[in-house]
Amino acid sequence: MLRKPRSVVAIYPGSFDPITNGHLDLIQRGSRLFDRLIVAILRNATKAPLFSVEERMEMLTEVVAGYPNVEVDSFNGLLVDYAAQRKAQVLLRGIRAISDYEYELQTALMNRRLRPDLETVFLLANEAHSFISSRLVKEVFGLGGKISGLVPHSVETRLQRRLSKTKRKGAE
Ligand code: PNS
Repeated sequence: MLRKPRSVVAIYPGSFDPITNGHLDLIQRGSRLFDRLIVAILRNATKAPLFSVEERMEMLTEVVAGYPNVEVDSFNGLLVDYAAQRKAQVLLRGIRAISDYEYELQTALMNRRLRPDLETVFLLANEAHSFISSRLVKEVFGLGGKISGLVPHSVETRLQRRLSKTKRKGAE
């Protein structure tokens, strides 16, 4: 029989490019469910990110400052190997809609095959956030749309700075 570990460590992995209020909601709820929650940014992503890993670490660290059991980190390679290294028993992922389910099911089953004792726990996104994605936030913001309420205030400020820098570069 598998015993419940004394302290449950969960990893919330993702790209977080940038962190949205949907991610933040999951972090808040995860911090209440687990003894320790590690928010882990994937370093070796194939897609070109808007923010560097270091910038994303800074943004995440700022917004999780009020949660003493939440840590921000980054990882390379297989998530299950990183989880083993961090002695985590749980992977936390959010599901917004049925469209998320297929990908999440595949990756959770692959991760289980790679490391059967690591459990993936899914939390349903708050309905107020179920349409928010980092990709859409970047697209809407880049085209001049309003994103307040979709991302933490500090992230909105950074997006504004990034956009004006890009515009300045374009004008040169
Ligand atoms: O926020 P995202 O982009 O949906 O996060 C995807 C992430 C980082 C969770 C996923 O790409 C991942 O775990 N990558 C690490 C490499 C790995 O372990 N791949 C096999 C997963 S079955």
